[in-house]
Amino acid sequence: MTSRCILITGAGSGIGAGVAAELAKAGHHIVLTDLDRNAVESVAQQIRADGGSAEALALDVTSDDSVAAALAAVSRPVDVLINNAGLQHVAPLEEFPIAKWDFLIQVMLVGVARLTRALLPGMRARGFGRIVNIGSIHSLVASPFKSAYVAAKHGLLGFSKVIALETADTDITVNTICPTYVKTPLVDKQIADQARTRGIPESQVVSDVMLKPMPKGVFIGFDELAGIAAFLISPPARNITGHTIDVDGGWTVQ
Ligand SMILES: NC(=O)c1ccc[n+]([C@@H]2O[C@H](COP(=O)([O-])OP(=O)(O)OC[C@H]3O[C@@H](n4cnc5c(N)ncnc54)[C@H](O)[C@@H]3O)[C@@H](O)[C@H]2O)c1
Repeated sequence: MTSRCILITGAGSGIGAGVAAELAKAGHHIVLTDLDRNAVESVAQQIRADGGSAEALALDVTSDDSVAAALAAVSRPVDVLINNAGLQHVAPLEEFPIAKWDFLIQVMLVGVARLTRALLPGMRARGFGRIVNIGSIHSLVASPFKSAYVAAKHGLLGFSKVIALETADTDITVNTICPTYVKTPLVDKQIADQARTRGIPESQVVSDVMLKPMPKGVFIGFDELAGIAAFLISPPARNITGHTIDVDGGWTVQ
């Protein structure tokens, strides 16, 4: 396996931090970035304590200046970009503040375009690049009260298909991993929000809203997402581009 330099957005928590730890164990250098500088520094310290290679940088995916400053400070060329930063807001559209709606799109759609746009020239110059987006089951299907999130995650697939075509002349691929629920702070907050919005207990949100539509009925693990990312950046996946890998326990084949 070739050791790659992998930049992950939103790596201070949840999936970004979990996938970073797994990919570091596989021998890759990880550039952990997040809004929250302290959070990524502590993830980087843990990776280094476990014998891995990692650096931490503050990076707000909604800001050109922040992205430029972070990329200027990265210690080595970035081979792989994992677009992971995200957030959720659960509310019926009539009660969904438009500023919040816009912000979710800025982070999970425009932010992905901003990072990809910033890193593509270097990838092109070196003749290699892999872009792995963290999409969602909500890139493929809808749930009520998540209009901004579902719109952003569906939009991500259209964006990725276009960039797959625009980079088809070189060894760059762009793909999207679409998992169902992963137990992270984002989901813990959502369990509470959904319980309030739907007027049901939190345990019922987990059993009836989150896990019931998925035939396998379990939360997805970080190891699954890291393993799929590792495959997507490996040589056998060099002609897989513009696609999704759906980690949905059978949800969308029903
Ligand atoms: N947890 C799930 O069930 C699940 C399922 C499918 C997809 N996802 C996706 O996985 C990704 C990570 O989610 P998570 O569950 O780990 O959430 P999380 O809340 O644990 O972590 C998200 C991270 O993104 C960071 N972030 C938010 N806005 C940012 C910005 N503007 N710039 C940089 N960083 C920013 C946060 O600081 C945080 O560290 C998201 O894109 C989410 O949509 C999550």
